[in-house]
Amino acid sequence: MVHFWQIILLPSFLLNIVKAVPSPLPSNLAIHTIYEFPNETWIENIAVSSNGNLLLNLLSTPQLYQLQALNPVPGSAKLLYTFPYATGLTGIAEIQPDVFAVLAGNWSIGTFSTTPGSWSVWKVDFRRGRKNDPAVSKITDLTKASFANGMTLLTPGSPYLLIADSVLGVVWRLDYLTSEYEIILESPLMLPPPGPIVLGINGIHVFDSSVYFTNSFQGLFARVPVELYGPDAGSATGDYVVVANNGPGDDFAFDKEGNAYITQDPSDALELVTRKGMVTVLAGNVNSTILEGDTAASFGRTKWDENVLYVVTNGGIAGAVKGTQITGGKVLAVDVKALLSS
Ligand SMILES: *[C@@H]1O[C@H](CO)[C@@H](O)[C@H](O)[C@H]1NC(C)=O
Ligand SMILES: *[C@@H]1O[C@H](CO)[C@@H](O)[C@H](O)[C@H]1NC(C)=O
Ligand SMILES: *[C@@H]1O[C@H](CO)[C@@H](O)[C@H](O)[C@H]1NC(C)=O
Repeated sequence: MVHFWQIILLPSFLLNIVKAVPSPLPSNLAIHTIYEFPNETWIENIAVSSNGNLLLNLLSTPQLYQLQALNPVPGSAKLLYTFPYATGLTGIAEIQPDVFAVLAGNWSIGTFSTTPGSWSVWKVDFRRGRKNDPAVSKITDLTKASFANGMTLLTPGSPYLLIADSVLGVVWRLDYLTSEYEIILESPLMLPPPGPIVLGINGIHVFDSSVYFTNSFQGLFARVPVELYGPDAGSATGDYVVVANNGPGDDFAFDKEGNAYITQDPSDALELVTRKGMVTVLAGNVNSTILEGDTAASFGRTKWDENVLYVVTNGGIAGAVKGTQITGGKVLAVDVKALLSS
């Protein structure tokens, strides 16, 4: 049935006003799919640019995509770059305003294992008007690393990137200006436990002078206070502490207060871990496809989406929910406040 108001044509200037308030989330939904890649696409990580665009690292192919989060149009994910001599991408971190570092290397989705020595760090530079066509160059090979996975800048303005090595169970410190790198943090809490899939420390981020990390198969979230400046930047200044034994964690994002939102691929949930270590499952579980295969998260950066948590997934390639099919990796917009109050 067609209602009379559906056939009134709005003048185009009015339509533009209606469209001028962008939002990735329809008001009635706390979790909304804004983009889905073709089947068997594993999105491994996400960063958000200052202009609001999402940068998506794929692990199933060595490709970096860009997605407009506000007013998304189906099919609008844009391939920015295919990295040579690699099978996939893992970590991504902003090193200077509008310049990102990206990890590329070989990790097999068939065997869930990596090729040690295959990883390298690249620079993706959106400055000088190249916001849809970045200049890409290699920073360095990381031949001493086994599986370079999560990555973060130590602190704004620092030349140091911290890179979680999920197989060696250590954190590398790379000076992206000189390409020198060395092990800066190591702890039993970073090691992979024995098992068929070798995976220890995974996501890594810094809040308030502490390095926080997940250890996927030890099932914990931990922190250690570190030096932020000087020649010892990145080294521990105190004890390693388990914040929560929260089950398998992949990557995570902090809100402004330092609460962590942890994606739980392969157990398909999104957790909130407060600074004091209180754990709340916000959504999802092993039997739910709502966040299936969630691998990483990042908050929006514009005034329209600063409370929106963007979550990326592998569509269940690491273990589909019973009775369901693997889908393409998804980009989800999540209203964490709505989930907390529901
Ligand atoms: C990683 O995979 C790429 C693409 O298949 C291949 O060209 C390269 O030689 C591999 N690197 C190593 C160190 O095996
Ligand atoms: C998932 O489903 C299985 C089988 O129905 C059930 O035993 C288990 O408790 C469920 N787990 C959760 C977290 O819902
Ligand atoms: C995606 O691919 C997998 C593996 O080939 C297949 O099992 C699954 O049915 C596919 N999913 C869809 C939605 O077609």
